[in-house]
Amino acid sequence: MRQASLPSFVLPAAFFMGAFAVPTVAAAQPTDRIEAYRQFAIEHPGNANAGEQLFLSDKNLVCTNCHRITGVEKSGPNLDGIADKYSRRELIDQILRPSASIKPGYEQSIVLTTDGHTYTGRINRVQKSMIKLIDVENKLIDVQRPDIEEIRESTLSLMPDNLPFMVSPQQFSDLIAYLETLHLAVTTGFRGPDEPVEVPRIKQLVKFVPLHPEEMKFSNPVWCSGLPGAAGQLVVLEHQECKIWRLEPTTSGIVRHLFLDITGQVKYGANWGLMGIAFHPDFKTNRRYFLEHQVQTDDKIVKTAIVERQATADLLHDAGKPSRQLMGVEAPAYNHNGGCIAFGPDGMLYIGFGDGGFQNDPNGNGQNMHVALSKMLRIDVDHRDEGLEYAIPKDNPFLAARQLDPAILPEIWALGLREPWRYSFDMKTGNLWVGDVGQDKYEEVCLVRAGENHGWNVYEGYEYFSSEYHQAGSKFTPPLYAYPHSFGASVTGGHVYRGKKSPSFDGIYIFGDYETRRVWGLKEDAGRVVAVRELGEMPQHPVSFGEDDRGELYVVGYEGTIYRLDLSQSKFE
Ligand code: HEC
Repeated sequence: MRQASLPSFVLPAAFFMGAFAVPTVAAAQPTDRIEAYRQFAIEHPGNANAGEQLFLSDKNLVCTNCHRITGVEKSGPNLDGIADKYSRRELIDQILRPSASIKPGYEQSIVLTTDGHTYTGRINRVQKSMIKLIDVENKLIDVQRPDIEEIRESTLSLMPDNLPFMVSPQQFSDLIAYLETLHLAVTTGFRGPDEPVEVPRIKQLVKFVPLHPEEMKFSNPVWCSGLPGAAGQLVVLEHQECKIWRLEPTTSGIVRHLFLDITGQVKYGANWGLMGIAFHPDFKTNRRYFLEHQVQTDDKIVKTAIVERQATADLLHDAGKPSRQLMGVEAPAYNHNGGCIAFGPDGMLYIGFGDGGFQNDPNGNGQNMHVALSKMLRIDVDHRDEGLEYAIPKDNPFLAARQLDPAILPEIWALGLREPWRYSFDMKTGNLWVGDVGQDKYEEVCLVRAGENHGWNVYEGYEYFSSEYHQAGSKFTPPLYAYPHSFGASVTGGHVYRGKKSPSFDGIYIFGDYETRRVWGLKEDAGRVVAVRELGEMPQHPVSFGEDDRGELYVVGYEGTIYRLDLSQSKFE
């Protein structure tokens, strides 16, 4: 998304030049040999000290050619906290079959140049004039843009798949035992630097009740919310099928109706597709609603677009008129293009963009006020300024700064977000709650207000991350809450519960983690975390939370099921 781990084998959009996938030769290692090593490592515990020596200095394994535990990253990801992320079995598979699940942002690309050279490596930086690759030997390669003939995606990891067989099965098991020791030092969440908060489970866990029968499963749903004007009905968005469904409760169970199919208008693939919907505050009378999805322009550039559409007079279907595009922002990579749009209590539309992808925010979009990426934008869809399909609200926070630097985008409301995949406004207080997906160590929950700089890529969580784009005099707003990767690796922002059914949860922010599927409740008071509780574990990957017209909550499982969040047997205490 984003997302940290939706499947993603697509090349950067900017290079979309009739590229095709490179044939996979993933079966290069004989399956029985892989199986023998796997079985041995599962059955025989290893010696972590011996494994550390192998990791650090074995001449054949060469792990440290590409990996460090912490510090400046090499061509492979840092391995700090790897044991929090993977079980022993998963670690074994990561090393025996590196190409089976490639860490997002670490895919290999193959760059062909006009003079017939081929360069293979991970794209680690994209600039206007050139791209930088980092290859197997950890060498940086610069390729000038005009020299590029084509860039092909690869489904192969940069990590060789023959490494384990350089050592004996017992030594392989030792190596895994060492990786199993690489936990992050902390096991609690944080409400400030060095201010840990315990995260106990509530006594009676919440229930995730499927809203529909198994046969009604959706194709990778990414969103669900109430449909204004149609009490009790919900809409569900399918990510790559590009359909919107309306769910209607009837006496004989839930019935689904097609609300809209816009397959032909959406550029989908990997993390691209239909991402979000927002109904105009006056939808019941003006029938206007807005979508966020990727589009591909005639010159093959992929953009994240915000479009307006209209519903039929009974509000139960899309009216079938063409979309009106309000804005389109180039999506430099398949990940971190935002995905959420929401109207605030002020009637303005808030549009969150991620840093545009790869890892580390290589182009410094986070702190760059001249680009929409990594920003929360705020626009007025009821008026139009000259040359725009919308108007700039007169009280947007950076309008004054434009007198010194006219290139600052007037739409900007806040900056420094890495990937605000899901956010929502508290129905009662109007506070904007953002789940901001983290990189190496921390996932963030942020309260975002006008003019704030949320730090990326200078800060990740409460920790200093990089000085590369740190501008003198910048003031940063820390997250409200950050949790380390021992708890999860991709936050999914949720909602503050304002339903009537479960009073002990009133005012509790309910959110989750896509990777570990855990769901938490967070209690806040005056901008400080008072308590965090684990509420339960979702049966599927929670990609989004939904709220209906009565403030009751739902959770969207990316594997296809929409769940009602049943808090009735549980108590937040
Ligand atoms: C040529 C460079 C290279 C070498 C050598 C290498 N790796 Fe990797 N490794 C990578 C890259 C790139 C990735 C990320 C892509 C992927 O997930 O396959 C990765 C991924 C991993 C992951 C998963 C990380 C995650 O967060 O998902 C683990 C664990 C790992 N390597 C361990 C090792 C160990 C142990 C060795 C030594 C036996 C090793 N690697 C050797 C490049 C390398």
